[in-house]
Amino acid sequence: MAMTERPAALADHPLAPLTLEEVREAVGIVREERDLGPRHRFAGLTLNEPPKEDVLAFEDGDAFEREAFAVILDGNDGSTYEAVISLTQGAVTSWTHVPNVQPPIVLEEFDECEAACKESPEFQEALRKRGIEDMDRVLVDPWSAGSYGDEEGRRLSRALTWVYVEDDHNAYAHPVDNLVTIVDLNEMEVVRVEDHGVVPIPLESGAYEPNGRPTRAGLKPLEITQPEGPSFEIDGHEIRWQKWSFRIGFTPREGLVLYTVGYDDGGRVRPVLYRASLSEMVVPYGDPRPGQWRKNAFDAGEYNVGALANSLELGCDCLGEIRYFDAVMVNGAGDPVQNKNAVCLHEEDAGLGWKHYDMRADTAEVRRSRRLVVSFIATVANYEYGFYWNFYQDGTIEFDGKLTGIVSTGAVGPDVKPTHGQLLNKDGLYGPIHQHFMNFRLDLDLDGRDNRIYEVHTEAVPPGDANPRGNAYLSKSTLLERESEAQHTVDAMSARHWRVESTETTNKVGEPCAYRLIPLSANVLPFFQPDSAVAGRAGFATRHFWATRFSQDERHAAGTYPNQNPGDGLPKYVEQDRPLEGEDVVVWYTLGAHHVVRLEDWPVMPVQHAGFKLEPVGFFDENPALDVPPPEGHCHHDARRA
Ligand code: CO
Repeated sequence: MAMTERPAALADHPLAPLTLEEVREAVGIVREERDLGPRHRFAGLTLNEPPKEDVLAFEDGDAFEREAFAVILDGNDGSTYEAVISLTQGAVTSWTHVPNVQPPIVLEEFDECEAACKESPEFQEALRKRGIEDMDRVLVDPWSAGSYGDEEGRRLSRALTWVYVEDDHNAYAHPVDNLVTIVDLNEMEVVRVEDHGVVPIPLESGAYEPNGRPTRAGLKPLEITQPEGPSFEIDGHEIRWQKWSFRIGFTPREGLVLYTVGYDDGGRVRPVLYRASLSEMVVPYGDPRPGQWRKNAFDAGEYNVGALANSLELGCDCLGEIRYFDAVMVNGAGDPVQNKNAVCLHEEDAGLGWKHYDMRADTAEVRRSRRLVVSFIATVANYEYGFYWNFYQDGTIEFDGKLTGIVSTGAVGPDVKPTHGQLLNKDGLYGPIHQHFMNFRLDLDLDGRDNRIYEVHTEAVPPGDANPRGNAYLSKSTLLERESEAQHTVDAMSARHWRVESTETTNKVGEPCAYRLIPLSANVLPFFQPDSAVAGRAGFATRHFWATRFSQDERHAAGTYPNQNPGDGLPKYVEQDRPLEGEDVVVWYTLGAHHVVRLEDWPVMPVQHAGFKLEPVGFFDENPALDVPPPEGHCHHDARRA
């Protein structure tokens, strides 16, 4: 088919996110061709990424096919379809029924589910028993139903309820415990109300807004100014900064995506990552009480965490010279939505970069470190998740997860101490113990696609001829030849990490050019039992490190459709046990944040960090930040002692 003059011609790169116009056009094409009506819901529409081969072979000015990918739920019969819509051809080129799956819960279903509950006489009665008559005071969150073998075939939520009290604007301070409302999200009607008995609703205020609260004194202005502007350059969705270059994208499922990350080494851009993004999350709660035990939200696959991204127009999420990127998506009805300022790009001073003071010559060389930060923040009902990728001048890439917002609450009644959580006030409000697991899919391409992976740890040499004085220890590397061997947990005591190296290039000592993946925060394993329902669904969380051979369609650690699914994803992918040596490998890291709730987490939680880093290890021949210029201005170059 001939290429036509469609908006596709405007995109300058195969990975450029769809524009608002392209999204509108794609929706128009599929609506018309498939005769979509008001009961069809869009559970995401995004760029259909071209095959990796095509992207890597692309050169400026080449023509390319422009496609959108949509997941569409037919509310008439609850069936799910995947559509590929060619903007180049102006046609739906693929329409596939995907049987027995549930797409993510979309934002409209939050409001509609709440309304359905409020209209239910059974729900109203359950609240009346708890002294709540006014439905305007009620907040319902559509918690995902999970898969327990007892609710097949319908699109369900096991919805949980909170109420607003006076003017604190924080319904999460007032949980209606022991009440679970099963809602059919296609029929949008209450199936059943499970009332496990009245627990008094905690009434103490959970206000976190200023509301006349006195603020502390003594903060003097701290100005961040960049009078000559930022050090980065932006060309569409391509970013260049301090030898780094990469592209960004944004999907409803994953949020921010980094593509084609490379580092300019002496005029040659060396590939590091082809694609990196969040692949899945799960938050399993540890409380067996009736209203709590099924809480284990998969925030990517069940809620489209990218579609829940904040517009960073409100507040001061970033400081300095900021450039924002909009995220273009669709709402449930399929109307294009432009989330203004969803992604923030800025650079920060990152403290000390490197230093040496020569005590004999009495001279010092000091360099500041600078980092480029690209980030977004998503609000999933009560919680906030900040996803920050930091690029450093020394070749390091860091993921810094920031967990904040309001903890998910329950109530035990006055004078009861919860067994599986922390009491937050004397009204019986508590925060159940839980864990957050994020999995990242990291398609590393170190100096090209052909890579290999080693597990690396440090061990002591047993006493004997090789260790006669008892001091000897060494770093030991083990080649991971197949997917079945590439499954590990972290081990801080042995400094375990993973090295991914090129099979093509070597450094100045003749060793392969490599990067290593290192935990940046404590990690943890899940505490659910291996035969529990959630274990089947969150199998990815039982290992911190996985590796697979590249496959374009293996993108999600808990499978493509985890909502109400008994289990899929990484544990299934690796059953193929493909060889890894000299292959295009993909590394998956599970980052666990353990959350034993504190009083200090209430009423809004101070940011907790969880992260990992990718750091060059013999990728360069020396410290790549050696050429960073000395600081200017108010710093004293001459560090002579007084
Ligand atoms: Co938490």
